Amino acid sequence: MGLLMGKLFTQLYDRIMQPLEQRGIAEIRKNLIRKARGRVLEIGSGTGLNFPYYEHAEKVIALEPQQSMRERSLSRASLADVPIDVILASAEDLPFQDNTFDTVVGTLVLCTIPDPNKALEEIRRVCKPDGKILFLEHVRVDRPIMGRIQDWLTPVWKHLCDGCHLNRETLKLVDKAGFKIVNIKRYYKNIFLEIEAVNDK
Ligand SMILES: C[S@@+](CC[C@H](N)C(=O)[O-])C[C@H]1O[C@@H](n2cnc3c(N)ncnc32)[C@H](O)[C@@H]1O
Repeated sequence: MGLLMGKLFTQLYDRIMQPLEQRGIAEIRKNLIRKARGRVLEIGSGTGLNFPYYEHAEKVIALEPQQSMRERSLSRASLADVPIDVILASAEDLPFQDNTFDTVVGTLVLCTIPDPNKALEEIRRVCKPDGKILFLEHVRVDRPIMGRIQDWLTPVWKHLCDGCHLNRETLKLVDKAGFKIVNIKRYYKNIFLEIEAVNDK
């Protein structure tokens, strides 16, 4: 059932995202991704919607645990302006040495990762000291009624949307993990956050 839903989600993902991309998410991705420099790790790269926006990266290692998503992303990787390898792996167990990357990118992914604390710990480990962290995430909003609606919808939503939690408090998790948050931009009534941080270690 899980695998089947995963494959179906992969097939529908770009179509589900298209209206959101057109209403501003694509522009937000573009402005965020162009800040990635040097050796870049992208976690949970999905179908590769960020790949067209890498301009200044020397090399991108994109990591995706689902084979069906990885396969879909390969054509976007081959068309990108910078070299991109897509490997099968999970963010909670990164197959890299300490201090390997200048930038770590994650978009709409910390909502889905089963153990986001472990993933953030791993990101801290593989990112160089003072390396850049670029996240775009939807989060639980800090408004009582809306936040409760997100809590209420999450059990059903996560089955329909491949493990996605509408009510993750991702900003708090990033802060708790020890990153130095340097910039936050809020979109769509604070549901979407662009988080720029430095790996202060
Ligand atoms: C909503 S999609 C986002 C895809 C892409 N980042 C984007 O912005 O369109 C969430 C992605 O996270 C991936 N994912 C799930 N669990 C993960 C994990 N433990 N480590 C890394 N990625 C994971 C999923 O396979 C999926 O591709």
